[in-house]
Amino acid sequence: MRKKIVAGNWKMHKNASQTKELLNELLTQIPAETAAQVIVAPTFVNLASAVENLTHSNIAVAAQNLHQAESGAFTGEISADMIKSVGVKNVILGHSERRSIFHETDALIASKVDTALKHDLTVIFCFGEELKDRQSGNHFNIVENQLKDGLFHIQAKDWEKVVLAYEPVWAIGTGETASPDQAQEMHEFIRETVRKAFGSDIAEDLTILYGGSVKPDNAKEIFSKPDVDGGLIGGAALNAKDFITIVTSI
Ligand code: G3P
Repeated sequence: MRKKIVAGNWKMHKNASQTKELLNELLTQIPAETAAQVIVAPTFVNLASAVENLTHSNIAVAAQNLHQAESGAFTGEISADMIKSVGVKNVILGHSERRSIFHETDALIASKVDTALKHDLTVIFCFGEELKDRQSGNHFNIVENQLKDGLFHIQAKDWEKVVLAYEPVWAIGTGETASPDQAQEMHEFIRETVRKAFGSDIAEDLTILYGGSVKPDNAKEIFSKPDVDGGLIGGAALNAKDFITIVTSI
């Protein structure tokens, strides 16, 4: 079912005490009722405490990644089962930083998607073009290929456990946000691409988030667009007041 979602990707920020502090600020500032489902994605070491601290709240927790194997000799990695064992039900996959810094390919991301879905985790699937792609007018092809090579192998029934997050790489952490019209244009293309491959019901029910320098002063206009169903927030998610302002912009 198409939902409004605002998710905070904390990336590699906030140790244990800082996580507890930010969560307490969010809990004191978040309205009892929000139009958007709220998700926070702390680092792995803080997932269990986040779930515990947010038990009686309307804030859900996501992991920022997982390994595709069930278990094994993968030093430093975290499995889907480990994520679920601490009560986490969502996972971000394919973030551009995983793709560019850690060289995750579409094929690897596709296998991570399979593992996440096998464990009944909701996948927040990230994708988006680089500045050179947009400048050359190739951004629609790039986005279409990322979707087809990383996600379109899944079965129709699994789409109910998928949230898309379009994050133009040139807007991530740069302060350079896609304009509301640019976001709408790409989100409309993404929904149409899903519609062509999987039909109108799945396409209409799909939640498509925008990520890339969403801030308190631009969130409302971006979120007002018909095919933008919320946001995946980085820097602004690390400040309770800013994040709540973005959440209540929907
Ligand atoms: O995953 C969300 C993130 O990549 C966006 O970061 O700092 O541009 O909001 P930021």
